[in-house]
Amino acid sequence: MSLCFLAVTVFTLQIADDWPGYKLELFTYPEHYREDVESVYIPHGVIMNRIECLARDILEDMGHENLMVLCVLKGGYKFCADLVDYIKAQSRSSVRPITTRMEFIRLRSYLNDRSTEDLQIIGPEDLSMLKGKALTLKAIVDTGKTMKMLLQHVQNFQPKRVKVAGLLVKRIPSSATILPDYVGFVIPNRFVVGYALDYNEYFRDLNHICLISETGKLKYKL
Ligand code: HPA
Ligand code: MG
Repeated sequence: MSLCFLAVTVFTLQIADDWPGYKLELFTYPEHYREDVESVYIPHGVIMNRIECLARDILEDMGHENLMVLCVLKGGYKFCADLVDYIKAQSRSSVRPITTRMEFIRLRSYLNDRSTEDLQIIGPEDLSMLKGKALTLKAIVDTGKTMKMLLQHVQNFQPKRVKVAGLLVKRIPSSATILPDYVGFVIPNRFVVGYALDYNEYFRDLNHICLISETGKLKYKL
């Protein structure tokens, strides 16, 4: 009798440590950020296509059942809007289209480009709509601390099943990161802005994900 070992490969889109990003001149971007960003780290079109793939994976996995989506603000608002749009579009062309309902929660823990110990959950007290199949959407996962606390919070509302999607996961060797179930990109531990990710509330209006420059950090420092 022979034993068969099944190797399971998890595909993630890894961005290498030495990836400098694309030169700014190759893309369009708001002129007022010209000195404030170093390079285009992930162009908007690439983000969108990756999110379309995540929508496909989520629909395949979660079965074509109605989804309760919990969006983590503020950084997750674009990711959430685009992912839900793709889920709806793909579901519409399936045999059993699903309904998606949304709720929003706000987390705050960053000052300048540093995470602080002071994590605040600001949001609706009643998340009982999560009782069905819940999908939690977060734009960025770095130390995993925030995600752990968020999941504990969500569990209080007894969802049938919880899955987490993160657009960006940072490679931080020292952290015991709980990986989201769906990951857009795994990136080095660098501070990025754009596509709703901010530095002290600036750069949310940038479509690409970019590397912030030293000039940008100084200009918008609190
Ligand atoms: N950019 C913006 N917000 C963040 C980041 C980042 O790289 N990491 C955690 N919050
Ligand atoms: Mg922020």
